[in-house]
Amino acid sequence: MTILDTFKTTNYSKINNKGSLTFSAPSNIALVKYWGKKENQIPANPSLSFTLNNCKTVTTLQYEPKNDKNISFDLLFEGQPKESFRPKIQKYFERIQDLCPYILDYHFTIDTKNTFPHSSGIASSASGMAALSANIIALEKLVNPNETEDYYLQKASLLARLGSGSACRSIKGNIVVWGETESIENSSDLFGVEFPYEVNAIFENYQDTILLVDKGEKQVSSTVGHELMHNHPFAERRFQQAHENIAKLKEILKSGSLTEFIALVESEALTLHSMMMTSMPYFILMKPNTLEIINQIWKFRETTNIPVCFTLDAGANVHVLYPNNYKEEVQNFIADELAKYCQNNQFIHDEMGFGVESLS
Ligand code: DP6
Repeated sequence: MTILDTFKTTNYSKINNKGSLTFSAPSNIALVKYWGKKENQIPANPSLSFTLNNCKTVTTLQYEPKNDKNISFDLLFEGQPKESFRPKIQKYFERIQDLCPYILDYHFTIDTKNTFPHSSGIASSASGMAALSANIIALEKLVNPNETEDYYLQKASLLARLGSGSACRSIKGNIVVWGETESIENSSDLFGVEFPYEVNAIFENYQDTILLVDKGEKQVSSTVGHELMHNHPFAERRFQQAHENIAKLKEILKSGSLTEFIALVESEALTLHSMMMTSMPYFILMKPNTLEIINQIWKFRETTNIPVCFTLDAGANVHVLYPNNYKEEVQNFIADELAKYCQNNQFIHDEMGFGVESLS
């Protein structure tokens, strides 16, 4: 029996009445980046992220018992039908049906909304897949209440991963590691685990302001980007580097050395984009204003000694990271000097959060 087999639900009852569940799940920002994957959403390298607090998806799952054994669901976004989400959700249900055969007993109505403005162009797959998976596991608890809380949490993260890799880091904890790596005990390729070591108080309530540089459709999706790490000339060394960086970050999180933190986090962001630029075909997701912002952050840090740094996800937007005790200075700097590089001057202040919440 493999570990995966232990997550297959075999004994369960059927609920005969319809019902409804609601969960919120936050987005997360990776400091060590997941870029490259194997079959079945297994990451090519480990990643580590800070969970966010304000950028959330709220999903209500209505379930209604039925007699056939097909996948069946309706999708709503803010109460209105949203067919464009269907292929992704269909694929998600197909991937989880062996682990969660009870889903075939119900017709679902999935209603989802985001707390961040839809005009922001922020990808919501991490928060969206985490919120849906939290609902599925809440349903599982109703049909099979006999497992431990740890089991349900791990399985929620496992299901989220099958929806979108980074989503598995949005279930529980403020710092989450996904991907088996020697320096983190109990780390797994199957689900995210809470960072299990001492963390310096400087990282409490760490701030992340997301600068919305470009809200347009990305020219290359993450899915295609991950794909291009196959046969990439630098892939093996990069995957190894991610293991090394997690081991280093473990020490930095303990010591609280922000100089080392900044160097590692910014280097990870630029490495991610270097991988994109050295793929075949190659591509660039940063925009001129992404670079303007990076240069402004470097100048500000040099002149003020305030330990602010940036990271990037798979797009042009910039995440500005800084300790809570510099909130005022950095937020003034963002409003005065960085907002002008954002589309419609838009940015979102966020901070460290703790994962999914039941709103039922
Ligand atoms: C650059 O999790 O969006 O944000 O598994 O194909 O859904 P899929 O990819 P996704 O990739 C995220 C990549 C990243 C880095 C990260 O979050 O670790």
